[in-house]
Amino acid sequence: MPWNPDTYARFREERAAPFHDLLAHVRDLTPRRVIDLGCGSGELTAHLARVFEHAEVTGLDSSPEMLARAREHAGERLTFREDRIEDVDGEYDLVLSNAALQWVPNHHALLPRLWTRVAPGGALAVQVPSNFDHPTHRLLAETASEAPFADVLGGWTRSGTAPVGRQSPVLGIDEYAELLFGLGAADITAYEKVYPAVMADADGLLAWVSGTALVPYLERLGEHADAFREAYREKLWRRWPGRPVFYAFKRTLFVGRKVG
Ligand SMILES: C[S@@+](CC[C@H](N)C(=O)[O-])C[C@H]1O[C@@H](n2cnc3c(N)ncnc32)[C@H](O)[C@@H]1O
Repeated sequence: MPWNPDTYARFREERAAPFHDLLAHVRDLTPRRVIDLGCGSGELTAHLARVFEHAEVTGLDSSPEMLARAREHAGERLTFREDRIEDVDGEYDLVLSNAALQWVPNHHALLPRLWTRVAPGGALAVQVPSNFDHPTHRLLAETASEAPFADVLGGWTRSGTAPVGRQSPVLGIDEYAELLFGLGAADITAYEKVYPAVMADADGLLAWVSGTALVPYLERLGEHADAFREAYREKLWRRWPGRPVFYAFKRTLFVGRKVG
């Protein structure tokens, strides 16, 4: 997937806020090994290395573009490697993932797999967006279902990667809590929170989505990418003709600890 570190970085501050909330839940740990799954351009992974000053910190991502940027932060205790989240190996005192697991299907299978990577006494801490019912996503799917894009995409939509009846692989907070309990986790935390963002106008929403949800569509659309972006932009403006635009971004955070 052609992730673009510059496009993603445009809302750095807004995107960092849930990471800091997540970190607060595991700040009491003194981990020796930490892994950041889907580390992106690595700024937040570098923050983990500063906070956990005795830890070896690894950032893992499947995007060479993101990793090239992340490696600028590499140091003695901070390394980055190219791999898929679903293939992660090794054992860590903290397995953390911020805004990345929404790209990995089947969380009922993924979570038990990630849990095996958590060392006794350690924790699994995850943040995923849970705003897939937001109009920005619905309008994206609507654009993808229209001509000529539906043909070019061969019927592909982001929600096609989700379980039947769902818009994304992201589960409900009750399901994450239950999954963690089933895995034997202690100290379970699971909640959803709105992170408000105020955009100057609908183009602000387009800029935000361009860094994430639009990426897999544009990747598949080739020469139709610009026309798709324009058709989507028109829908955004129709939905939000005024200014400013308030973006109520919902995110899910969950944490579980492995008894040591
Ligand atoms: C929205 S960015 C989040 C980056 C960073 N964690 C942050 O909070 O700023 C999502 C990242 O997940 C990575 N990613 C998506 N699917 C992945 C997978 N299956 N395995 C590894 N990385 C993946 C992407 O390459 C991208 O860098």
